[in-house]
Amino acid sequence: MKTRQQIVAGNWKMNKNYGEGRELAMEIVERLKPSNTQVVLCAPYIHLQLVKNIIKDVASLYLGAQNCHQEDKGAYTGEISVDMLKSVGVSYVILGHSERREYFGESDELLAKKTDKVLAAGLLPIFCCGESLDIRDAGTHVAHVQAQIKAGLFHLSPEEFQKVVIAYEPIWAIGTGRTASPEQAQDMHAAIRALLTDQYGAEIADATTILYGGSVNGGNAAVLFSQPDVDGGLVGGASLKAEEFITIVEATK
Ligand code: G3P
Repeated sequence: MKTRQQIVAGNWKMNKNYGEGRELAMEIVERLKPSNTQVVLCAPYIHLQLVKNIIKDVASLYLGAQNCHQEDKGAYTGEISVDMLKSVGVSYVILGHSERREYFGESDELLAKKTDKVLAAGLLPIFCCGESLDIRDAGTHVAHVQAQIKAGLFHLSPEEFQKVVIAYEPIWAIGTGRTASPEQAQDMHAAIRALLTDQYGAEIADATTILYGGSVNGGNAAVLFSQPDVDGGLVGGASLKAEEFITIVEATK
């Protein structure tokens, strides 16, 4: 039995219209059994208020967002502030997903600002990191991921950092069906935890939840989550099917 908080977060990405999102959230509530694992539904913005209303009476279910802007308010057409997210009951905010780093040019420096905003609002960041296939093939993947964490998070005080969840998502495993092996996941998670130990000490590092993401499914979740430094998952495609998502949640121990 792991002492760290186990979390399974579903990243719906840009999927489900209003009715489909309502159906998915309702089926997840129907199928979910009580457990100590926190389950986070990171839905598109149009769903947040409704999903919050659907999950509000289930203790282990939390509402998440997939991004936020780094400013409080203003002339930023199309953007969402942390205050807006907080006002509809969001608890967690995914930051630095590789798709946002790639498609929207989000830098580590920008993500450090977004992390500060999320923490200042009393919300919880799920900070994403991960390497491309060419970096993995070059053997520099640990240094790459550690550099992302240093640049995005290491300005935080120990008290602030304790609120952070880290998600390691090898880019070559996202949406490809090519999941990292349990050993690959464990090796990177252990390297991340070692870096956290150097910066914040063993107590904070050991208490930090580190999620794996990248083609997690009902068939591989149990062996991935059984790894000593894997504390759950950040799930994309498989989170859009309630039955499989619940299978993944139940794979945490
Ligand atoms: O944020 C989770 C996502 O990037 C993983 O996607 O479809 O490979 O589970 P998927």
